[in-house]
Amino acid sequence: MGQIEKSMVDFLNEHPKMKYVFFGGKGGVGKTVMAGAAAHWLAASQGKRTLLASTNPVHSLSSLLGQDVFGRPVAVEGVPNLWAYEIDTKDTIARSKEEIKEKIEWFLKYAEIKAKADEFVESATLNPAFEESAMFENMIDLMFKDEYEAYVFDTAPTANARRLLGMSSVYSLWVDKMVKSREEAKSLKELLSYSKKNEKDPLMDYLVNFKERMSHAKELLTDEELTAFFFVTLPEALPIAVITRFIQWFRDFGIPVGGVAVNMLIDESLLGPGTPDFVKNRVAMQKEYMEDIWQKFDGKVRAIVPLFDTEVRGVDMVAETAKYLFAPKT
Ligand SMILES: Nc1ncnc2c1ncn2[C@@H]1O[C@H](COP(=O)(O)OP(=O)(O)OP(=O)(O)O)[C@@H](O)[C@H]1O
Ligand SMILES: [Mg+2]
Repeated sequence: MGQIEKSMVDFLNEHPKMKYVFFGGKGGVGKTVMAGAAAHWLAASQGKRTLLASTNPVHSLSSLLGQDVFGRPVAVEGVPNLWAYEIDTKDTIARSKEEIKEKIEWFLKYAEIKAKADEFVESATLNPAFEESAMFENMIDLMFKDEYEAYVFDTAPTANARRLLGMSSVYSLWVDKMVKSREEAKSLKELLSYSKKNEKDPLMDYLVNFKERMSHAKELLTDEELTAFFFVTLPEALPIAVITRFIQWFRDFGIPVGGVAVNMLIDESLLGPGTPDFVKNRVAMQKEYMEDIWQKFDGKVRAIVPLFDTEVRGVDMVAETAKYLFAPKT
């Protein structure tokens, strides 16, 4: 039987500047609950001005906290220093569309192409990556505004989190290419004296600005002292397989992996002669998968949270969960 070598508390004590905390993992494993618990601990126990933000299009912070936190940061009742915020995806997408439309309109005019920007905008924004990209922009906007001492992000359940961050590398390459071809087009135009030198080029400004934002975001998100991704799993085959893959991906991208939290472990000491077989079987199964977890995530398991009698709802239960997530080493 393995044991926790470095708990969540130990890890965070070792990284006193930790500012951007993420939770990822398979759907339904408890990412939102863990994010809530971590934010609660940072705010209430550490006294840090903390924002718990959801970038997941399917929000659940409001139901976790029993309070409407959609669309703007709202102070969480009963928890000092804590704000929560479900980002409005629709609103972000509408704004991004508007911004892109402006750029395309300018470009079409510049290139003397007689076409309506709308068609281009529609096709560009139909791509599912557009939504993720808009969410990513939203997230880094929050980070750059720097109004909080700590941020806990409840990320989307699938591979989105990784793609989101991987995108900052892709963006950077893409923008480099765009900038280069814009420079070529510009000098060609100047050569043919279509346009005067030093004429303002809003598209170019936008691209350069965008690239700078992305590279700054990447700087923050790959800084081990500032950022950590934690992965939540259950003692079950699929959630383990999912985070094994995630951890590898994140390592490949140079994104700091903080460790693994195991959720919904059934307390074996509660088994008795009257315990039904299906519970006994489940406990036996969990035990086997725990061996797997200790082996696969050697030295990286930071916390074990038991399966509670009920689902986690309301600030009091979030605080209760935080006690386990931030338990001193056992
Ligand atoms: N330790 C626990 N004991 C009992 N119930 C739990 C525990 N952890 C989480 N839950 C419950 O399990 C459900 C799923 O948790 P949660 O919403 O945090 O998962 P998620 O990973 O964020 O899901 P999604 O992928 O849909 O975003 C919720 O109803 C939550 O209250
Ligand atoms: Mg969730």
